[in-house]
Amino acid sequence: MKIIKTITELRDHLSHFKRPAFVPTMGNLHEGHLTLVRQAKPLGDVLVASIFVNRLQFLPHEDFDTYPRTWEADCAALEAAGCDVLFAPTEKELYPEPQGFKVHPPVELSDLLEGHFRPGFFVGVCTVVLKLFNCVQPRVAVFGQKDYQQLMVIRRMAQQFALPIDVIGGATLRAADGLALSSRNNYLSPGDRAEAVHLSQALKAMAQALREGAVDISALERQAMTHLTARGWQPDYLVVRRRADLQPPATGDIPELTHNQGLVVLGAARLGATRLIDNLEV
Ligand code: PAF
Repeated sequence: MKIIKTITELRDHLSHFKRPAFVPTMGNLHEGHLTLVRQAKPLGDVLVASIFVNRLQFLPHEDFDTYPRTWEADCAALEAAGCDVLFAPTEKELYPEPQGFKVHPPVELSDLLEGHFRPGFFVGVCTVVLKLFNCVQPRVAVFGQKDYQQLMVIRRMAQQFALPIDVIGGATLRAADGLALSSRNNYLSPGDRAEAVHLSQALKAMAQALREGAVDISALERQAMTHLTARGWQPDYLVVRRRADLQPPATGDIPELTHNQGLVVLGAARLGATRLIDNLEV
């Protein structure tokens, strides 16, 4: 695996390839990331992963400074997973001057759910992803479905800017008890780790209720919020949304949307100091 830290060297190296496949990450890799790498590998003639902890997508009170940097382990894991090129720019390389030009996704996609609770998050994500796309110039890029809204926003960005990149989702990998793998799981104390599965269980219960014919989604959402709150969580949202645009479905549309696999349940909740997100397509 070749490790490259500058844009010039990356462009030079990739000029020998026609169809780079790309998996961007912020490091602190787990099996979920490595599965994305393995998924992307056969889709291109060279597999590029990036590690860059993107300051622009963290709010001032969030964990940018303490976000785990696990360089040695990440390099070993990427190499074992078949990564050909690791692009790991410094902040100075990617943001040599304050990033004044930014990508602002449309509010109807980005001001809800994650964007509502983390204002500016998707501006930071889109800006860095567009910049990484410009550096790598991939033909295909794979993002985890665990970040459901992020995947949707990036897909739309690629469409609207006519980027010649297939944006593909990779299935969420789960621990044996059902907890979605996430870099932030490492923050959980042993007690919180045991409790953490209740987020995916709450989403499963919502999805099951929909499959059994529930149409009162406000009641479903309220019950799930109350359930997690009673267990000591601080939920931001537990909601039923249309898969197509992440908007709330009209009550009359719910049976048909459920039948046609048009719904997704999404949740975000804080357990102690750790914020977890998850989703489940119905
Ligand atoms: O999902 C992530 O790890 C990040 O948001 C991404 C896409 C690498 C952009 O920094």
